[in-house]
Amino acid sequence: MTRPRLSVSLVGLGYVGLCTAVSFASRGFDTLGADIDRGRVEQIGKGRAPFREPGLDKLLRLGLRSKRLMVTGDVSKVAGTDVIFITVGTPSNPDGSINLGYVESATRQIGTSIRDEPDYRLVVVKSTVTPGTTSSTLKPILEETSEKKAGVKLGLCTNPEFLREGSAIQDALHPDKLVIGAVNKESGSRLAKLYRTFYLRRPPPTILTTPDTAELIKYSSNAFLATKVSYINTIANIAQQIPGVDVEKVAEAVGLDPRIGRLFLKAGPGYGGSCFHKDLQAIIAFSQKLGYKPTLLETVEEVNEQQATKVVSLAETLLGSLIDKRVAVLGLAFKKDTDDTREAASLRVIENLKKKGAQVVAYDPMAMPNARQVLGRTVEFAKNQRSAIKGADCCIIMTEWDQFRKLKGKDYAQSMKTPNIVDARRLYTPEDLEGLKFRAIGLGHDTH
Ligand code: UGA
Repeated sequence: MTRPRLSVSLVGLGYVGLCTAVSFASRGFDTLGADIDRGRVEQIGKGRAPFREPGLDKLLRLGLRSKRLMVTGDVSKVAGTDVIFITVGTPSNPDGSINLGYVESATRQIGTSIRDEPDYRLVVVKSTVTPGTTSSTLKPILEETSEKKAGVKLGLCTNPEFLREGSAIQDALHPDKLVIGAVNKESGSRLAKLYRTFYLRRPPPTILTTPDTAELIKYSSNAFLATKVSYINTIANIAQQIPGVDVEKVAEAVGLDPRIGRLFLKAGPGYGGSCFHKDLQAIIAFSQKLGYKPTLLETVEEVNEQQATKVVSLAETLLGSLIDKRVAVLGLAFKKDTDDTREAASLRVIENLKKKGAQVVAYDPMAMPNARQVLGRTVEFAKNQRSAIKGADCCIIMTEWDQFRKLKGKDYAQSMKTPNIVDARRLYTPEDLEGLKFRAIGLGHDTH
C-alpha cells in the first residue's frame, strides 16, 4: 500500500472517534487520536479499547504496533496533522435539546492550537450536531481562536457518521454513503480527496452539500429508522389483539415492497442505544424552537416509551399481579453483541416491573457491569442464564442474544417455578415452547 500523504487526527476517542481512528490507521494514514481524558488515552495506548466492538481490539493493536496510530492527552498536538476530525459527544440538556459544550470546547482548542500553523488545516465535524451548528456556531469560534478566515489556509466541513454499534468497523470501512457538508468548495474537495485515498479510489456514493443540509441528513436518517421501529411495534400491538396473527409474517410481506424494504421491521421492546432517543429529542427541540411541532417524531418517541409497558402487560396476562413474583430478565444490552445499556428497553421494563412489585433477577452475557452501575442493588444479578431462570415465576427475553436460544422448552420447564415466558425479541416460535405459557410481542393469542 502506498502511504497516504495526508495525516489525520481525531479529537474525542469515544465510540465514533476510536473506531474511525483505527480505520484510518488500518488504511495507512498517520493518525493521531486525542482525548482530554488521560486515563482513557493511557488505556487505549496500551491497546485496550474502553468498550467492546468486533474487530476493534485487533485494529487498535495493529495501529499502535505499526506506529500509524498514536494517542495523546494533549489536544493541541492535532495542530500538526492535515485533517482534524471533531468526534466528541453531544449529550442532551435536561429539556432534550442538544448540549454543544464539548463540541464548542474542542473547536476552541483546535482553533487555538492551529493559530501559528502555516499550512492548510481542514477541520471536520463528525459529531452529530443540529443544523446550523457548524456554520453559525463552530465556524465563528474556529475563526476567532485560530485568527484565520475559513477559506484561507483553513477548511471546515460537516461529515456525519452512520456507524452502528456492533458493526462499527465494518461500517467505517464499507459505508453505504458519504455525506460532506462544506463551508466552501475547497474544503469539500479536500475532504473528498482524503476519502478517495481512504477508499482506494472507489469511494461510496458521495453527497456533497452545505453543512446545514449534512447536519439534517444525519437526524433524518436516525429519525426514519426510529420511525420504522415504532411503526412495526404499532402493528405488532395491533396484531397481538388478533388471535392467530403474527407481526413477523406481516413484516415479511410488507418488507417485500421495495418502497418499504425489509430491514428495520423487527418488532420488539422498543429501540434503545445512545443515539435514537437523544437525536430524536434534539431534532424535536430544534424544530420546536423554529416554530414547527414535529408531531410524527414526538409520537415515534411516545410509542417507544410505551412499548416497555406492553412487554410488562404481557407478563401480567400470564401471571396476574406481579407483586412478589420472581421475574427473570434475560438480556440488558440495548441489542445483542454489545455491552451498551444506554437507553436500553430492558431498563424501562425493569423499572416498570419494580413499580408493580416484582422481584427482578437479571442476566446479560456482556452488559452486566454497565447495567450494575445504573441498577445497583435494585435487582439481583445472576451468574448465567440458567441460574437466572431458576425458581422464577416468569422469564422475559429482552435482548436477542444468540446464546439465549440454547435454552429449550424443557430447560424452562425444569428450572422455573412456573414456566411463563414473555418473548420481547421473538427468539422462539410457539412450537419451540410447546406446553409452556408463552406470550410474544406481536403474536396474537387466544385469551382463554
Ligand atoms: C444507530 C443507527 O443505525 C446508525 O446508523 C447510527 O450511526 C447510530 O445509531 C448513531 O447515530 O450513532 P445503533 O444505535 O448502533 O445505530 O443501533 P441500531 O442497530 O440502529 O439499533 C437501534 C435500536 O433499534 C436497538 O435497540 C435495536 O434493538 C432496535 N431495533 C432495530 C428494533 O427494535 N427493530 C429493528 O428492526 C431494528
